[in-house]
Amino acid sequence: MTTMSRTKLAVVGAGAVGTSLAYAALIRGSAREVALYDIAAAKVEAEVLDLAHGTQFTDSSTIVGGDDIAVVAGADIVVITAGAKQQPGQTRLDLAGANIAILRSVLPRLLEQAPDAVYVLVTNPCDVLTVAARQISGLPAHRVFSSGTVLDTSRLRWLISRKAGVATSSVHATIVGEHGDSEFPLWSSATIGLVPIRDWTVDGRQLFTWEYLEQLTDQVVNAAYTVIRGKGATNYAIGLSGARIVEAVLRHEHSVLPVSSVLDDYAGVSGVALSVPTIVGRRGIERVLEVPMNGRELGLLRDSAETLRQSLAGLGF
Ligand code: 2OP
Repeated sequence: MTTMSRTKLAVVGAGAVGTSLAYAALIRGSAREVALYDIAAAKVEAEVLDLAHGTQFTDSSTIVGGDDIAVVAGADIVVITAGAKQQPGQTRLDLAGANIAILRSVLPRLLEQAPDAVYVLVTNPCDVLTVAARQISGLPAHRVFSSGTVLDTSRLRWLISRKAGVATSSVHATIVGEHGDSEFPLWSSATIGLVPIRDWTVDGRQLFTWEYLEQLTDQVVNAAYTVIRGKGATNYAIGLSGARIVEAVLRHEHSVLPVSSVLDDYAGVSGVALSVPTIVGRRGIERVLEVPMNGRELGLLRDSAETLRQSLAGLGF
């Protein structure tokens, strides 16, 4: 299946993230039709016009939208970006209460319009919202998931590729866990090409020492804070990450992406959503992959799950 078959992407929220996602989807031809929905009529209409004015130069996709929820009708995939965003100094988990309230109001109405869609949460804290969305919607776990650490993984691969001088597509390293402060990289399985990252040398010298890997981890965990300090929000890279996930679903790709879904006895973790390598296709989550983790990584995964469990419990989930 290609995206030239009739495919409809609905983006909920015409803020910086939603519009960047719609823009990326148009440029990449991620869906045949992109619909942008927001409650702010003037804003969403202006964004749709601005995007539509450029479609001579994009793939053969169309953009529609407005403040009437019927614009999302019949969508194959709905990506939710609406919600309060992090202010400088706030963590993603600080946004949970406000953004769950938004989900409670919008999700039932979205389901009326797009009952068969796959639902992807991009709004933060996306792992917590995935559990909330599942409970509010009653949808099966494979149809509700979040962008998770797809963006964080892209950040990590970019940092490694720059240091090693190889293309990002040749870096195989993944961030797992919460899309937030307790996330971490799976160094034990990270490779550059086929070379384990710890064995990567330049002139006989090891490049990726433990100390350097720790620095990379810190840079990824703090990446959003760094961008938010400088420009108030992150939008381009999450827009691209979202468009990439949309393609994996609409093209039934079976691509492995670190999206976040509600886990059921994954390395002993159940009932919370966090990111692990996952096969993504037309059903949404096709399969959550059991990947090799050493004892330290398993411990970090369980710590990350515990952080999320506590946040959920504080919210009554
Ligand atoms: C990001 O990581 C803020 O979650 C957003 O860019």
